[in-house]
Amino acid sequence: MMKIRSFFLHFLIPIVFSFGFITTCAGENVKKSVDDNRDDNGETNDESKDESLDIPVESEPNNITCTRRQNSQMHELLAAGHQQFPFMAAIMSQQNEYLCSGVVVANGLILTTAQCTQQPLSYILLNTTTDKKDDTTVSLHVIKTERFPTFTGTDSLKDVGIVYTEKHNNSIATKIVLSNYTNPRNVLDLEGIGFGLNADVGQTKELQYVGMENRSPEEVTDVLKVYFDCVETKVTTCFKDTGGPVLYDKELMGIVIKGQDECSKEMSSTYAVNKRMADVLPTYAFKAWLDEKIKKNDEQEQVALVAYPGQPVRRSLLNDGLHKFTSSRVEIITSTPAHIFTGFVCVFALY
Ligand SMILES: *[C@@H]1O[C@H](CO)[C@@H](O)[C@H](O)[C@H]1NC(C)=O
Ligand SMILES: *[C@@H]1O[C@H](CO)[C@@H](O)[C@H](O)[C@H]1NC(C)=O
Ligand SMILES: *[C@@H]1O[C@H](CO)[C@@H](O)[C@H](O)[C@H]1NC(C)=O
Ligand SMILES: *[C@@H]1O[C@H](CO)[C@@H](O)[C@H](O)[C@H]1NC(C)=O
Repeated sequence: MMKIRSFFLHFLIPIVFSFGFITTCAGENVKKSVDDNRDDNGETNDESKDESLDIPVESEPNNITCTRRQNSQMHELLAAGHQQFPFMAAIMSQQNEYLCSGVVVANGLILTTAQCTQQPLSYILLNTTTDKKDDTTVSLHVIKTERFPTFTGTDSLKDVGIVYTEKHNNSIATKIVLSNYTNPRNVLDLEGIGFGLNADVGQTKELQYVGMENRSPEEVTDVLKVYFDCVETKVTTCFKDTGGPVLYDKELMGIVIKGQDECSKEMSSTYAVNKRMADVLPTYAFKAWLDEKIKKNDEQEQVALVAYPGQPVRRSLLNDGLHKFTSSRVEIITSTPAHIFTGFVCVFALY
């Protein structure tokens, strides 16, 4: 009897334990591979393949077929996290009213629309995810503004300008890299960023971003018209902002010169709505002009900014004797103790 009991203790219990660990480990792998199969819309690839087929729809007011491209990166409006887009600037008036978005292209140089620069600008906010000042945001005074030479008013096509502000150090913001595309060919999925894209009047304007599509990539146009379509969402969808960047491959493909004030409350993935979201002035329309301004600015530059997707330099951490890690390394260690533990246990169990 004792012998059987010790047999249990020495063999069966460890076996039962290892079985439990192995299922846990296998479970993690299964979960991971499901995540890997997801695209940006949170749907599995199989589903999006189905949706990309033409689905004929009968007797509905919007019975146009939803022709979504395969692997489209289009996605609903999402709230941006802190430091997700460290080149974003909120352009503000003297009365602390939000006016428009801007994008850091060099230290003290903010790109926006020419129409925005015609308003009474006072300061800009950096390191912010809302249009409200607080202890963690950085506000910089506007020194002067410039508009594209051919801009004469609302009818001018090249509605682009720059705002010169006080300089800052490279621990606050990154700059965006200008795309060197010279036409919109092959540029399909674009990400638009702005403050309060679907916010009601009087609401705080949160930093948001949305995946959109360039519908006519074959056309060589002066303005890109980008759309939102065929995505299942309950998020109110519109684009009530201008001056913000439109990214392609993490580079500046253009700026939003006209948004969309009409909001759709809900959208279905099967019925086409062809929601026009924004008119985008492509970077190639003003790159030569802007490159020159950046070059001039950089010649008197003290602190060079890190280029996005790099993160602002975290000086305070480097100077602090207690934390001689980069901030990202600290985050990895503190955010994943559970994974490290499971990994260790898995290795132990397999051993
Ligand atoms: C949708 O279908 C109905 C009836 O099938 C038709 O009368 C209507 O014109 C269609 N609408 C569109 C936008 O195609
Ligand atoms: C930027 O904001 C974060 C929190 O939102 C804060 O921890 C950090 O100190 C801020 N950076 C600067 C340079 O103010
Ligand atoms: C960078 O700027 C921030 C905010 O203006 C300041 O707190 C910090 O000390 C500066 N760092 C350096 C190294 O100048
Ligand atoms: C465009 O930029 C990419 C990297 O950003 C570079 O590899 C490429 O050579 C550039 N093309 C031109 C024509 O400058």
